[in-house]
Amino acid sequence: MKKRSENILRLFKKHFSDEPVLVQSPGRINLIGEHTDYNDGFVLPAAIDKNILFAMAPNGIDKIRLVSADMDQTYETGIADHYQNAGQSWVNYILGVVEQVQKKGKPVRGFDCVFGGNIPIGAGLSSSAALEGGVLFGLNELFRLDFSLLEIALMAQAAENQFVGVQCGIMDQFASIHGKEGHALKLDCRTLDFSLYPVKTDIVDILLCDTKVHRELATSEYNVRRSQCEQGVKTLQKHESGIQKLRDVSHELLEFHKQEMAEIVYRRCRFVVNENQRVLNACDDLESGNIESFGQRMYESHYGLRDEYEVSCRELDLLVEITENLDSVLGARMMGGGFGGCTINLVKKGNMQEIKETIAGIYRTNLNSDVEFYEVNISEGTGLADPGELI
Ligand code: GLA
Repeated sequence: MKKRSENILRLFKKHFSDEPVLVQSPGRINLIGEHTDYNDGFVLPAAIDKNILFAMAPNGIDKIRLVSADMDQTYETGIADHYQNAGQSWVNYILGVVEQVQKKGKPVRGFDCVFGGNIPIGAGLSSSAALEGGVLFGLNELFRLDFSLLEIALMAQAAENQFVGVQCGIMDQFASIHGKEGHALKLDCRTLDFSLYPVKTDIVDILLCDTKVHRELATSEYNVRRSQCEQGVKTLQKHESGIQKLRDVSHELLEFHKQEMAEIVYRRCRFVVNENQRVLNACDDLESGNIESFGQRMYESHYGLRDEYEVSCRELDLLVEITENLDSVLGARMMGGGFGGCTINLVKKGNMQEIKETIAGIYRTNLNSDVEFYEVNISEGTGLADPGELI
């Protein structure tokens, strides 16, 4: 098979002239800590070895010229102060980040970009965050803009919030940009401090099971969950003025005032408060090498997402349920925003093939459709790529 980087560079030469820089930007998994990021809580994501490659160069004319290798589409526009929604979602992600650079008062001059990737789209692996972060990283290099990695992550999130119109938290962009090979990132979404936790790949492998269910409800229901969390905070603020987000709420305080809020708001809040604590406990498990306990918390996270936060779906639930009786799966849960996409599974080393066959068989019998598997490794975050090393 031809190297992917060779293909991207070949396309760049075909469409444009200059010598480009090559950037890689990965997708992400999240081990635990779902729907906690926009509540100022903790998450434990990691960058993976599925990524987007970008060839980028300044073009000396005031134009943005883009080629999506995978979609076989091109797009061209002049440099402007504001960009119109382009209709094609991949273009919007790129225009959104260009606009962010300009909002920071830094000039973007004309540039050419060819990109292509192997992150499954719509599977909840943050291909959009990889696209945003990769383009920003490339622009930072091309025009010596001097943005830090943290600024790049925040600008990528702002582009998604403001231009694309998804009110996501910071987890995806941060993880894609800051990832470290072999490590999960425990990120405090309030302070944006993070620490690295080695994941024991001598003991477990990571398997993603893709339902291929499209997450149509994801955006609207995501925003509903956000506002339910805010409603809970408003009620509790009447009692303690120091509360800004659910991060500041203890289990005891929530229980004490639960009658003052709608039952559904209480359930949403209870999930977030518990999930936040689960991340902290799960990090302790990693530190003490107790991967069994870590896996158990993944199941608890899933049950909370299913029953209290109600962002799962029957395909995800079935995938998790199947693994409950499999000794070589240490933990499993739905991952990301929900309503479809993937489950993440920790599989004891040496059992991958057998586990995949078992899951595929039961899934097919019950739902008459096929699950897709991705075995992933934890990799480096966004950075310059060496054309010789990439596939
Ligand atoms: C999506 C969002 C993230 C995060 C997760 C849920 O992936 O983009 O910011 O909120 O959902 O944990």
